[in-house]
Amino acid sequence: MLVPVRALADLDPGDAVRLEPRFTPDPAGPGVAVFRTEEGLHAVDDSCTHQDAALSDGYLEGCFVECPLHAALFDLRTGLPGEGPARRPVRTHPVVVIDGMIHVEFDRAGEVAA
Ligand code: FES
Repeated sequence: MLVPVRALADLDPGDAVRLEPRFTPDPAGPGVAVFRTEEGLHAVDDSCTHQDAALSDGYLEGCFVECPLHAALFDLRTGLPGEGPARRPVRTHPVVVIDGMIHVEFDRAGEVAA
């Protein structure tokens, strides 16, 4: 399942966009934060694994996002936490660009692809 997010031309490097939960296979879930870094596009659950802050409101540092609440740092390529209070990884999602549109990929069963 591919879900369109935004035109690539409308997401500058260093910026993020939030995919609302109602557009994902898990409407009760956290939604997805899509980031455009110098390396490309990355998508993770829009929820810090420490205390649930929205990572789409965080601060990009290369391929890392810093949580806006207590400054946990997550590697957007792997979801793994680095510095800060978070101990569990954040779930990552594949991102593809089709005809200039950013899409997040979810699997056909409605579960979020790892
Ligand atoms: S909520 Fe993200 S570091 Fe605390």
